[in-house]
Amino acid sequence: MSGTTSNPNYGAVPAPTSEPYEADVLAGLHRDAQEVIGRYPVKRSALLPLLHLVQSVDGYVSTRGIEFCAEVLDLTAAEVSGVATFYTQYKRHPNGEYTVGVCTNTLCAVMGGDQIWDEVSEHLGIGHDETTPDGKITLERVECNAACDFAPVVMANWEFFDNQTPESTKTLVDDLRAGRDVKPTRGPSRVCSFKQVSRVLAGFNDGLADEGVGAGPASLEGLKVARDRGWGEGSNGNQQNEATSDAMAAGRHTSTDTPAEGDGKAEK
Ligand code: FES
Repeated sequence: MSGTTSNPNYGAVPAPTSEPYEADVLAGLHRDAQEVIGRYPVKRSALLPLLHLVQSVDGYVSTRGIEFCAEVLDLTAAEVSGVATFYTQYKRHPNGEYTVGVCTNTLCAVMGGDQIWDEVSEHLGIGHDETTPDGKITLERVECNAACDFAPVVMANWEFFDNQTPESTKTLVDDLRAGRDVKPTRGPSRVCSFKQVSRVLAGFNDGLADEGVGAGPASLEGLKVARDRGWGEGSNGNQQNEATSDAMAAGRHTSTDTPAEGDGKAEK
């Protein structure tokens, strides 16, 4: 990336630079940092959100951002850097406008995640933690997103794209690069930029957290089975749990398809 980038919170700021922050940008950072620090009994506890705040301005954890965090939290730059280099969500070089993460953990991998990775990496001409020359896409292999029931899963700035294929993922990255609207499978109806998402992670609500559905049909299947069979909290649930425990102790099947002996609810 080069030149300037537009930031709704701080105006146009230089993309990666070793220069000090402009006065108005620095004033905004201090104002926001004090709000974040005020949420914690000990101010050094605010380091994680402040690193996201730095990313919301610089697009990564810059050297000047590390120095800013150290100053406002009474830490050393080495202490701040030690934290920033531990977590993969903190970027040590300019990140693309969209982080596209292909899950290649076990279940997604066997369901096609490895194939998606190979084809999208070749399509974009970049590898893990690399960014397209236009500064739009940073590609990552990501660990399990706890969305295995929708494998293979791809994330765009941590929004879910479920049941993906190589073709659908290549279309996704092409649309993101072209500035076309993309709609996650669950959650908000659009994908925000890396800087916008970083500001949310710093603790500044964008009002989108509860937008859209949170759980898809596959995640709700267990709930449907429980409701169909009248299982729930309270005495019924306790009876079910006791029956299940007894069955497990006796070495019997306990799955919902094979009701435990003597479990009146399960036999319905
Ligand atoms: S293995 Fe991909 S979401 Fe769990």
